Formats: sequence, C-alpha cells, structure tokens
Amino acid sequence: MLLASCGLGSAPVKALLCENVHPEGVRLLRQRGFEVETRDGALGEDDLAAALAGVDLLGIRSTTTVSRRVLEQATSLKAIGAFCIGTNQIDLDAATAAGVAVFNAPYSNTRSVVELAVAEIIALARHLTDQTAAMHAGVWHKSAHGSHEVRGRTLGIVGYGSIGSQLSVMAEALGMQVHYFDLVDRLALGNARRCGSLDELLGAVETVSVHVDGRPENRRLFSDEQFARMRPRSLFLNLSRGHVVDDAALARHLVSGHLAGAALDVYPTEPKSNGEEFVSVLRGLPNVILTPHVGGSTEEAQEDIGTFVAGKLADFAEGGSTVLSVNLPQVAPARTAGYRIVHLHANVPGVLAKINTVLAELGANIVAQTLATRGHVGFAVLDIDKEVAPEVLGALRALPESVRVEAR
Ligand SMILES: NC(=O)c1ccc[n+]([C@@H]2O[C@H](COP(=O)([O-])OP(=O)(O)OC[C@H]3O[C@@H](n4cnc5c(N)ncnc54)[C@H](O)[C@@H]3O)[C@@H](O)[C@H]2O)c1
Repeated sequence: MLLASCGLGSAPVKALLCENVHPEGVRLLRQRGFEVETRDGALGEDDLAAALAGVDLLGIRSTTTVSRRVLEQATSLKAIGAFCIGTNQIDLDAATAAGVAVFNAPYSNTRSVVELAVAEIIALARHLTDQTAAMHAGVWHKSAHGSHEVRGRTLGIVGYGSIGSQLSVMAEALGMQVHYFDLVDRLALGNARRCGSLDELLGAVETVSVHVDGRPENRRLFSDEQFARMRPRSLFLNLSRGHVVDDAALARHLVSGHLAGAALDVYPTEPKSNGEEFVSVLRGLPNVILTPHVGGSTEEAQEDIGTFVAGKLADFAEGGSTVLSVNLPQVAPARTAGYRIVHLHANVPGVLAKINTVLAELGANIVAQTLATRGHVGFAVLDIDKEVAPEVLGALRALPESVRVEAR
C-alpha cells in the first residue's frame, strides 16, 4: 500500500476520526495510505488535546468542540474535517492562526432536503398525513374535497441557493410553475421566474417553500405580515432555519383557515436530545407536517459526507489542495514533476518575493507556483526542481511572515 506522507521523510500521515465517522470516509483515507485511528464518541477538551499528539488530520462531527486551547497544543495537526454541514464547533480564527485547514460538507445533504420538500408539497396538497392518521384511527372518509394535483400549481421558492435551485428543477419536473426570490441575482433554472421582492412572490404563488440561510437578519422573515400577504388557502414549508418563522403567527393563520397547511422541519427552539419533549404551538393542527430536523438526515447524505470530507482531507494532505476549505485561501494546484512546498503566511506585501529569494539562494528553481489570499492569510503552493532539503524548509520557516511551511 502507498503510504501517504506529509512533511519530510516517509512517516505516514496519521488521522484521528471521532464520533463514528461514516465507514466509507474511513475506508477512503486508509485506501489512500493514511494511518487511521477511529473513536466512537466525542472527546472532551483535555482528552482531545492529548489524543492529538502526533496526529496530522482530525475528523469530527457536530459534538466535538475544537477550541483555541486544543489547537494551540496540537502542533502536528494540519487539517480538520467536520463530517457534517456546520463548523460552529471549531474555533476557525484559532485554526487559521495555527495554519490548520478546516473542511466540511456543504452540499452532501442538499438532495435529501429537496426530496423531503417535494414529498411534503404533494402530501400537503392531498392531506396525506391527516388521511393516514384517520385510517389508523379506523375512520374511512373518501372524498376529493380540498385535494389537489401539484401539476400546474405555482410554487414560490424563497432563497434560491443550493437547495432552493435544486427544488426548482424537481418541482418543474412535476409540472409546477416556479417563482423564486433571492437577495442576490441567481440564474433562473428552466422556466423559473425571478420575483423582484418577497411581497411580489407571496402574492403570486399557492405554495411557499423557504430555503434561506441562517443570517441574523432572517429572524422572523415570516411573521403575521408575510403570512397575511400569502394567497388564501396557500401552503407553507420551512426546511431552512427555525428562527426564520414566527411559529405563533403561522399557527394563527392556519387556525383561521387563511393557510391550508404547512410543513416544518426546523423550529425556533428544538429539543437538545432524542426523548426530550417537543413543545410547539403547531402541535395538533390539521394538515401540518412536523418532522424533527431530519431534512438532511438520510443514509445517502451521511455516506456522501463521509467520502466528501475524507477526500478533502486526503487532497490537502497529499497535494495542498484547499478547495472548499472554510478558513484558508482556496488553491487547487495541478501536480507537476516538481517537489512540492506549501507555505501559509501572513497576507502582507512582498512575501512571495521573499520566498522566491530564499529558494533562489538555495539553488532551487521554481517549476510552478500558485498563490491565493483570504483575509489575513496567504497560501502559496510551490513546486521546485530539487528535493526539499531540511535547510529549504528551515529557511522558509524562518521568514517572519510564515505561519506553516511543509513539504508535500
Ligand atoms: N432541514 C435540514 O435538515 C437542513 C439541511 C441542510 C440545510 N438546511 C438549511 O437550508 C437552508 C438553505 O441551504 P442552502 O445550502 O441552499 O444554502 P445556500 O447558502 O446555498 O442558499 C441560501 C440562499 O438564500 C438566499 N437568501 C438569504 N436570505 C434571504 C432572504 N431574506 N430573502 C431571499 N433570499 C435570501 C441567499 O442569497 C442564498 O442564495 C440553510 O438555512 C440551511 O441551514 C436545512
């Protein structure tokens, strides 16, 4: 097996994967020659700092906190893979200061959310959840009243990002007419029609599906005023963030009959763990689908997260690729015949000139060079025509602007 290594010599790259990272992620790293240790649960701060001695790559999910103190102690750590969507559990400023790249899986559950939204749009239009609950209670009530096909009906998508735009494509495949509103200009897919304002969208459609991001300004984006602007007997879905909707206002508009149904997957306050009671004004209302924040929770999404993040860690450790890193400048350098050095440094004028001078003085010719900057840091990947000797790395590390310098 090929042993992946980073830094000088042929010591294998060590990865520590906590919190039951998907087996496909573990398999990918082992297949690419990394030495992988796995842990079932999350480690506390002290245990994590101790476990990271000699570890190059750390994989976590949402429960492990990677604090500044952990990062300052983990001197061999080069990258963290968050095998989930969010990265709030990692001190990103401290990671950047330590030259540690952080990766996550922003798109792995997009499709899962879209499929749930599609299922719910149809289920609401046919009162499916009420019908099945009645049947389980022994009530046979056969009627077409209030049931609709979704074909030909209008869907308004608020937030036309990864999820909103994919929902647009699938809804059109069902024969729906899609309108959307986004704060930024987004390319209309298929026959989707862009609305100039949220109000314009609310007045034009029969079903509203919200897919905005969680920025603080989106708190209560949907409250009494917006529900009142929706057309009578409309349907409403929120699978984005809980704070985006005023649930009490939604409940009032459902009880009054102004809205014909709703599907919610996220809530302003959610139970911290399974088994804790879910408290909401929306409980018990007819034609209201409530799911426990599972829009992105499918086995396919988990597997995709496993391989996606493991691939990012492997690409970074092997060649210095920072594509889709959440904290470092993004570079995707093609492999050349040269010997590779990755150089993370303070983003101040003249660093590249200093690096080139050091290499020239040591008699190394540069075969290829890629530089990107982001905020306070710059990231250069340099391929040189001779093997990277310890004095080359030593001289580059001695530059006052250097944060992290390694051979790959
Ligand atoms: N239910 C789940 O399990 C689940 C899973 C994954 C993602 N999500 C959530 O779904 C949402 C969408 O995810 P995504 O990956 O598509 O995000 P994204 O960042 O790709 O897209 C969000 C879009 O919303 C737009 N936007 C933000 N505020 C807006 C506003 N006030 N009006 C109109 N447009 C606005 C942005 O410009 C952007 O285009 C996020 O909040 C995410 O956290 C939920």
